[in-house]
Parts: sequence; C-alpha cells; structure tokens
Amino acid sequence: MIKIAPSILAADFAKLGEEVLEVEKAGADWIHIDVMDGHFVPNISFGAIVVDAIRPLTKLPLDVHLMIENADRYIEDFAKAGADYITVHVEACPHLHRTIQLIRASGVKPGVVLNPHSPIETILPILEDIDLVLFMTVNPGFGGQKFIESVVPKVEQLSKIIREKGLSIDIQIDGGINEETIIPCAKAGANVFVAGSAIFGKRDRREALQAIKRAGEE
Ligand code: DX5
Ligand code: ZN
Repeated sequence: MIKIAPSILAADFAKLGEEVLEVEKAGADWIHIDVMDGHFVPNISFGAIVVDAIRPLTKLPLDVHLMIENADRYIEDFAKAGADYITVHVEACPHLHRTIQLIRASGVKPGVVLNPHSPIETILPILEDIDLVLFMTVNPGFGGQKFIESVVPKVEQLSKIIREKGLSIDIQIDGGINEETIIPCAKAGANVFVAGSAIFGKRDRREALQAIKRAGEE
C-alpha cells in the first residue's frame, strides 16, 4: 500500500487550513510538515505553532520532519502540538539513540532521516527502536528541487534488511517526487512518499495526487 504525504511547504500559507482540507479530500494519507531552522539547513520555515493550528482541522497523521539542530529541546513542543510522527536527521543528532527515546517517551512515533550522502549503516543499530526511515532524495532546505537517483540503491538495501529482520518500519522518500520518480523508489521498497510542488503546484490537487499514487502502485 502506497501512502502519499503532501508537504505543506509548497502550500499557500495565506490559506493553509483550506490547503490542508483540500489535500485531505484529494486522498492524502499523511500531512508532511517541514520544520527548518536556518542552521542545519539554509532556510527557515516555521515551528510547532503551525502543527498546533493544523491539528484540529484533520484526522490525518501529522508527519513532522525536523531539519533543525538541538532537536531534543523541541520534541515536547511538537508532541504537545499534536505530531503523530517526528523524524530527525542522523546528521543533526549526535545522541541519536537518546533523541529517539525522547520522541517515543513523548507519545510520538519516531523516525530517522538520511541525507542523500549518508550511509544506512549509521541507523542499523537503532532499527528496532524506530517506526519510520526517511530517505532524502534532495538536499534538504527547499521544495521544488531535482530528484537524486543515486539514493535508490540505499532504499533497496535497507528494505531488504528490514524484511530479513522481520521488522515493520515504513520507508519514506522526500524530495522531487512526482509520477515518474516515485516508480523506482516504490520498486526499491519504499511505501510513503512526500510530494510538495508536484501536488500543491497543480490546479487539480486530486488529479495530481492520485496520478502519483497510481504510478507508485503499478
Ligand atoms: C525539503 C523538504 C521536502 C520538500 C519536498 O527540504 O524536506 O519535504 O518540501 O518538496 P518537493 O516535493 O517539491 O521536492
Ligand atoms: Zn520534508
């Protein structure tokens, strides 16, 4: 089963509530929320206040992607705001195991994100502690970038390891996903797909979202 998580980073912030409702109606499975601090990534987006504002509007899982330093300091805020998933970058968390435990203890499902260059080996020791692995297929910081294909073999490797260990972990892809780029990723074993510009950049969000989903399910 393929899940689509529209990234609100590409939405019209002046009418964010309507945008969320529209993609929910279009068949979104999760709502992806990109939090950027201007330190770990070269861009600033928004914080927990936006999660708090969206929470009462939708029953869909809120998938919070933290592209920030000092994640430990903010986990409680995002949990209280209503996050269902919190993913943190291996590159930004020197005490990753502790951070994962903090997320779990705050009642949220933890996930780990790998930048395009990061090897999967860094997360093998904590696989049993997480619900989600997110592979970046762009360098994080901005929407609308080009998909980096060399990430796909890593997805295939990890998917095989997860199967062999009999674990149930979602594999998510983020960056440059559209109805073409989803195909190799789904074949490699990913099942949750973030799409920003490929959904919010289109007039007919339902048609855009469903076309991506169909391509992934083929
Ligand atoms: C990039 C973000 C992505 C981004 C995806 O740093 O993590 O979630 O919004 O946007 P598209 O789908 O346009 O590449
Ligand atoms: Zn993201």
